[in-house]
Amino acid sequence: MSDTRTAIDYAAVEQEIRRELAQAGNKTQAMTRSVDILKARLPDYTWVGIYELFGNELVLGPFRGKPSPHTHIPVGRGICGAAAAEKATIVIDDVNADPRYLACSLDTRSEIVVPIMRKGEVLGELDVDSDRPAAFGPEDKRLLETVAAVLAEKL
Ligand code: SME
Repeated sequence: MSDTRTAIDYAAVEQEIRRELAQAGNKTQAMTRSVDILKARLPDYTWVGIYELFGNELVLGPFRGKPSPHTHIPVGRGICGAAAAEKATIVIDDVNADPRYLACSLDTRSEIVVPIMRKGEVLGELDVDSDRPAAFGPEDKRLLETVAAVLAEKL
């Protein structure tokens, strides 16, 4: 299997998202443009979505990919709930080896969840699934954490 990551210009994707978010008129536009660009530019990103935190529950907002059965996830449940509880990025190289994992698609092999935080408070999360095992490396983590930081200003 070829490694598609070598062909990706992460800096260009970051700049594109920064440009788009600077022009976004509201949070829905900001979230929608972010998932659109990430899904379009990163071939290994099979499913890209944003959850917003309302009370103790993560609620699915804009996403690209197959519809997920997990539209409402309590903090502490699944990989998404764990990342919200820990206020930290979680990278799962093999979702089938993690008992916390809530399946969205049977084809998913790896996942990254990045909290969107402002002043230490979780506002939501960026969630990306891949059909490729261990699809998320340091550059993906850095890109998605940067996008989460920019998005935090819009949520
Ligand atoms: N896999 C996530 C659930 C969300 S779906 O991937 C879209 C989890 O374990 O929390």
